[in-house]
Amino acid sequence: MSGTDVQTVEVALDARRYPVWIGRGLLGDAGRWRARLRGRHALVVSNTTVAPLYLDRVARGLDGLHWSSFLLEDGEAHKNFGNVGRALEALATLGATRDACVVALGGGVVGDLAGFAAACWMRGIDFIQMPTTLLAMVDSSVGGKTGVNLPAGKNLVGAFHQPRAVVADIDTLASLPDREYRAGLAEVVKGAAIGDAGFFAWLEAHVDALAARDTTTVIEAIARKVRYKAGVVARDETEQGERALLNLGHTFGHALETAGHYTALLHGEAVAIGMVLAARLSERLGMGGPADTARLQQLLARLGLPAGVPAGSDAEQLLGLMRLDKKNTAGTLRLILWRGIGRAEIVAGVDPEAVLAVLHAAVSEASPAPTRGL
Ligand code: NAD
Ligand code: GLY
Repeated sequence: MSGTDVQTVEVALDARRYPVWIGRGLLGDAGRWRARLRGRHALVVSNTTVAPLYLDRVARGLDGLHWSSFLLEDGEAHKNFGNVGRALEALATLGATRDACVVALGGGVVGDLAGFAAACWMRGIDFIQMPTTLLAMVDSSVGGKTGVNLPAGKNLVGAFHQPRAVVADIDTLASLPDREYRAGLAEVVKGAAIGDAGFFAWLEAHVDALAARDTTTVIEAIARKVRYKAGVVARDETEQGERALLNLGHTFGHALETAGHYTALLHGEAVAIGMVLAARLSERLGMGGPADTARLQQLLARLGLPAGVPAGSDAEQLLGLMRLDKKNTAGTLRLILWRGIGRAEIVAGVDPEAVLAVLHAAVSEASPAPTRGL
């Protein structure tokens, strides 16, 4: 492919800037990304699913450097402190100096953990994100949130640490299971739903091409979502305000994920359902209208995403889990709601009875949980 097929989105945070390259053949295009490595040492962090598929392509670009790899077992359960320690040991064994670079090759689990290890080693060294899931390309690889889970909860420990570059090679999506791909599309819809009505309409018009993974359409969708997120992150890197909007659907979604013990729903699926519930709650509170809720629900359904809570969900349990959300303050519910497509808002002091009513209504029309391999 020619270089013109690569889209570049610049993330600009005061003096710090980095490119997000989106296109085909990028892992093998070391001439582009190798210049972002400043020193002579690199540690590639990946996992046992992704490394056999793509580590070779990255390895060719590291020729001549002192480098090694550290592989996680596959799964969210491995995004933990023990593996941060092992990644740091791997850096020590490599003899990594302050100009070393960590390369994160994989989905959001690998990217979050590798970025956190890079933030810790010698109080912070460079890292490059090479996302291989759609979710990681459009969300987790951009914006510098890194971290791991504790037994007490997801993503409770972490650091803001921006990458030196993001290399989103969409050729890697060829091996991504369809269900994971669709979960990534939920994060694309989320960006449009929060703050870009024009992008939302574009997605409605390109559902078939997205479902067929048409190259040009996929690159455009990723670039538009990343451009939107980059703008938010540039204005509010450490989530003092506006960045919280990126959590539309998350409070409901996290409750559903926790209730399903993180096995029933993928994160993107939970966010899809959560966005619909947030839209319904907005309606109930007199903010958004039913036409916008219906458009959201239809777009998600056309993309093959669930829009209803799994059968067997318990409204009271879900509300209890929502009360534990990190965004809450002083014991009150703080949620991301909307006034319609592209107009999300942070709302504090949401009435729990209204939330409960929305949850009860959703439970009464519950559908069976999705099955693997949609
Ligand atoms: P993941 O990293 O677990 O990847 C999903 C699955 O796809 C895994 O089994 C993985 O091995 C496999 N996989 C990855 N790339 C593949 C490929 N090209 N071909 C075949 N299989 C492939 O999950 P995810 O959805 O990418 O990321 C979820 C994680 O991201 C969560 O831990 C979440 O907390 C985090 N996250 C972080 C941010 C952030 O801003 N840092 C934002 C959103 C989500
Ligand atoms: N995924 C939400 C954020 O990056 O802030």
